[in-house]
Amino acid sequence: MTREISVELQDVVKVYDTTKVVDGVNLSIEKGEIFVLIGPSGCGKTTTLKMINQLIPHTSGNILVNGMNVKELDAVELRRSIGYVIQYIGLLPHLTIEENITFVLQLIRRPKKEQKKRAHELIETVGLPASYLKRHPRELSGGQQQRIGVARALAGDPEILLMDEPFGAVDPLTREQLQNELLRLQETIQKTIVFVTHDIQEAFKVGNRIGIMRNGKMASVGNAMELVKNEDEFVRSFVGQGAIFDALDNIPVKRVMENDIPNVREGEPFKLKTAMNGWENIIVLDQNGAGVGYVSLEDVGPDGVIPAGAVRPLLPGCSPDLSIKKAVEQMLYGGRTWLPVASPENVFEGIVTFQACAGLLSREAG
Ligand SMILES: Nc1ncnc2c1ncn2[C@@H]1O[C@H](COP(=O)(O)OP(=O)(O)O)[C@@H](O)[C@H]1O
Ligand SMILES: [Mg+2]
Repeated sequence: MTREISVELQDVVKVYDTTKVVDGVNLSIEKGEIFVLIGPSGCGKTTTLKMINQLIPHTSGNILVNGMNVKELDAVELRRSIGYVIQYIGLLPHLTIEENITFVLQLIRRPKKEQKKRAHELIETVGLPASYLKRHPRELSGGQQQRIGVARALAGDPEILLMDEPFGAVDPLTREQLQNELLRLQETIQKTIVFVTHDIQEAFKVGNRIGIMRNGKMASVGNAMELVKNEDEFVRSFVGQGAIFDALDNIPVKRVMENDIPNVREGEPFKLKTAMNGWENIIVLDQNGAGVGYVSLEDVGPDGVIPAGAVRPLLPGCSPDLSIKKAVEQMLYGGRTWLPVASPENVFEGIVTFQACAGLLSREAG
């Protein structure tokens, strides 16, 4: 399967005075992925990010956005078409939250009615009540302001989102919440996100792939497990001892969740023609979509009738945000090789298997 490339850096160099602060970076970022840039302070992460939307022009090399050379695009247009979120989000204090969110839409003179509609959509998207639209930034907590920053960046419905240590200035609990929200949000918006952090745990958690930078160069690119197993001395020292456990502790279940599981509503017959997708069991759901049990296909009678007594209990559903490490723990303690996954509203979403978790260790690392 070939994936579309959203952002491409070809031998990109940035020189200040005589120093190459970005030194020949090559990178292909796929459409719809969260690509994390990480590395020690001063290694060139922010500069690399800002060259993508040309807040900083590059000295040489090529930067392509959707296949088009950024040097040939109108700089203002380019910046408007790429969402940008920074650590101290810089909401304008004298404007309301609504005005802050729709700032870009005002600039491009979208009709007032559309701006209002969009503000309402976006505040819901980032999980805050619509009543906050009338507030001013100082009436929001740091975490809430950061959510507004994300809403503002999404206002013009950009395909690409650049995030520079967006959760760096909030407390650890809020940070974890914002990371989970970003992952949940990404399932619906499917943007290409370039995310800068200096926190390896955060990188493991949000990154589909991670690029480690060192002195303006890309030292290594790969997914969490590839990085953990990387033999390069700098990568090893940066990722740290015990990184494999850190990674498993931060990769959420939804990365390996299987969601094509055959299921049936309680009291209804199972359609025997349903594709089993390799599964031998059928999940039984109640009228609200919550998992109540499972039944082996062998036990299903002719006409799909499920005999009373054949339905076995499910372990409690785990959150899609639960870490792989905790999921495996729950399997071990529960004596099962798989767990159901359920939304916060307890709607069945899929299952996570021990095999898929273990596969992460071998398969992805090749
Ligand atoms: N405007 C500038 N003029 C000169 N040097 C700069 C400028 N901006 C950044 N630098 C230098 O470029 C290097 C990379 O900076 P930056 O991309 O901000 O790093 P990071 O985001 O990884 O911490 C640093 O050494 C920094 O001091
Ligand atoms: Mg920086």
